[in-house]
Amino acid sequence: MAIRLGDIAPDFSATTTQGPIRFHEWIGDSWCVLFSHPKDFTPVCTTELGETARLKPEFDKRNVKIVGLSVDPADSHSKWAEDIKETQGHALNFPVIADADRKVSDLYGMIHPNANDTLTVRSVFIIDPKKKVRLMLTYPASTGRNFDEILRVIDSLQLTDKHSVATPVNWKQGGDVIIVPSLSDEDAKKKFPGGWKALKPYLRVVPQPK
Ligand code: BEZ
Repeated sequence: MAIRLGDIAPDFSATTTQGPIRFHEWIGDSWCVLFSHPKDFTPVCTTELGETARLKPEFDKRNVKIVGLSVDPADSHSKWAEDIKETQGHALNFPVIADADRKVSDLYGMIHPNANDTLTVRSVFIIDPKKKVRLMLTYPASTGRNFDEILRVIDSLQLTDKHSVATPVNWKQGGDVIIVPSLSDEDAKKKFPGGWKALKPYLRVVPQPK
């Protein structure tokens, strides 16, 4: 069955460029970004993996582990890693799953046969420390993803969990946020003693909590 938001991310064991992992155990108490790319030694994927390696300190700051995946074997990933370092200036610093038997790709619905029946599409799953799926994205092979956007969503999800706020359209770090509708005014007063701006009873704006 297709994975949906709020589901527990399916567990699996896999070979990666950093050795074998059991997925849930490997995530531990962290958040996780699991993302697939169509194929090793392809141009867009090369730029994406270099950029993700560059951004690794940003993921670390947010307690997020990153893991890539494609249906290529581990020795191919390792050879390709040399090209990523050479052309993108950043060496791979996170594991990439070697899913040659498509076990994980099938489990996560990363192969869309009407787009391509052998290669994974560009899927992204953000998984929280309770192993719940909190975001799913699917991009076509020809469009590289925006990993700043993935960091932005992680910031938004972590703010929601910690402070009961949601983030409005085009929100960026430091911008005003919105008190979640499920929080009554009475409870909101306790959380936001400085008050809020109510544009409508359901649209209560506050500065971003620290
Ligand atoms: C790429 O990463 O450049 C790519 C991979 C598969 C199809 C098209 C582009």
